[in-house]
Amino acid sequence: MAVGDPRSPLVGSQLHDRETLVSEGGMALLVENGIVAKFDDSQSLESEFSVDSDVDSRIDVKGKAIIPGFVDSHTHLLWSGDRSNEMRLRQSGLTYQEIAQQGGGIRKTVNATRSSSSGELFESGKARLQRAVDFGTTSIECKSGYGLSTETELRLLDIVNRIREDSDINIHSTWLGAHDFPSDLPPSQYLEELLSEQMPAIIEQGFSDWVDVFCEPGWYSLDQTELIVRAATDAGLPSRLHVDEFVDGGGLSLAAELGSASGDHVGHSSDDARAKAAGAGTMQTFLPGTPYVLGKQLELPLQKCLDEDWQFSLATDFNPNCRSLSIPFVGSLATHRMGISPIAALAAVTRNPATSLLRSEQDLVSGSIRVGGKADFVILNGDDVDCWCQMSGDNPVMQTIASGAIVSS
Ligand code: NIG
Ligand code: FE
Repeated sequence: MAVGDPRSPLVGSQLHDRETLVSEGGMALLVENGIVAKFDDSQSLESEFSVDSDVDSRIDVKGKAIIPGFVDSHTHLLWSGDRSNEMRLRQSGLTYQEIAQQGGGIRKTVNATRSSSSGELFESGKARLQRAVDFGTTSIECKSGYGLSTETELRLLDIVNRIREDSDINIHSTWLGAHDFPSDLPPSQYLEELLSEQMPAIIEQGFSDWVDVFCEPGWYSLDQTELIVRAATDAGLPSRLHVDEFVDGGGLSLAAELGSASGDHVGHSSDDARAKAAGAGTMQTFLPGTPYVLGKQLELPLQKCLDEDWQFSLATDFNPNCRSLSIPFVGSLATHRMGISPIAALAAVTRNPATSLLRSEQDLVSGSIRVGGKADFVILNGDDVDCWCQMSGDNPVMQTIASGAIVSS
C-alpha cells in the first residue's frame, strides 16, 4: 500500500489500482528498530542475511498474505455496564432517541461508568484493546464521553493515557465531554462547565489529542458544537466530530467549515456537504456497525465516495450498543453488504484513517507497508489478501505485529 505520499488518503481510482497496491508473492520484509528497513524478494533477503547473521528472529509466513495493521479511528473504548436490554426495546418499536429519553442510552452507561473504579476501567480497557489487536488493529482512537463530569472525563482520559504508556499499539485519545448532557445538571450549566472547567483541565493535563462533539439534533446543536470546537482548536485540540448519524443536521458541512480532520457516522449528510468535506480535507468516516446493530438499512454511500473521489474511511464505533472491535467485521459489511472491493475497503481501514489521525509533520505515519514506515502489519490466515474481510464471524488474522513485535495473543 506504499503508493504516493503516505500522509495523504487514497481516493477514487487509486483505490482500485490493485497492481500498484498489492505486491506479488515471494517477498520478504526486514524490520529494524520497529521500522521496515527492507522490502525485497525473499531469496535475495535470505542470502543477504544468512542463518548465522545477527537477525534476531525470522517469521516464515508460508505464503500467507501480509497487510498493514488496521487503524480504527473511532472507538468508545472505556465504559461499564450492559445495555443488552435495548435490543428488545428497539424490537418493540422504540427508537434510539426514545430509549435515551426513558433512561437508557448514553446516560445509563454514564451512571455505570461513574460508579466503576479506575482499576476496573483500566483492566477492561486493556482486555478490549487486546481483542482489537487480535483482530489486527495496530492503531486505535479512544474517546472519553461516558463520564460527563470534569472528574470522570479526566479519569477516563488518564486511563487511556496509562494504557497507551503500557502498549506497543498507537493509541490516540479524544475528549468527548460533549457526548450528551448529564442528567444531574441543566444543559446550559453543563455547557459552561465544558468550556470553563473541563476543557482547560483536559488541556492542562495534556492527555487528549482531539476534541469530539456528538453534533446531532437532540444532543449538541450546530451552535453549541461550533462554540466548543472553536475554543478547543484555539487551545490546540483539533477536532473529529460525530455528525449526521440519524438525520441531516448540517453537521458534516460544519465539520468542513471548522477544518475538522474527520466527520464520523455521516449516514445522512447531503451530497453538497460531502463535496464540501472533500474540498476541506475532512475525512468522511463511516461506521456501518452502528446502523447494523440498530436494525437499520446499510445504505452508506461508499460507492458514491469512490465515484466522486471523496476521501473516506471505515471504523468500528465500538460502544455499548455496537460491541465489536473487529475491523474485519466492518470490512465484511462494506464488501459483502455495500459492494465495494476488498482492496478499496482495506485502504479505508488502514491508509486513509491513518492520514486522518496525523497531527503534526513529525508524526510517524501508519497505515501502509513501505520502507521507512512503521512495522505495523497483519499476517493473514489466507494466501489472497482479499480474505481479510471474508471470514464473517471468524478471525482472518494469524498474527498482529506492531513496531516489529508480535502483539497478538
Ligand atoms: O457513536 N452516537 C453517539 N455515540 C455513540 C453511541 C453512544 C451510545 O449509544 O452509547 C455512537 O454511536
Ligand atoms: Fe461514536
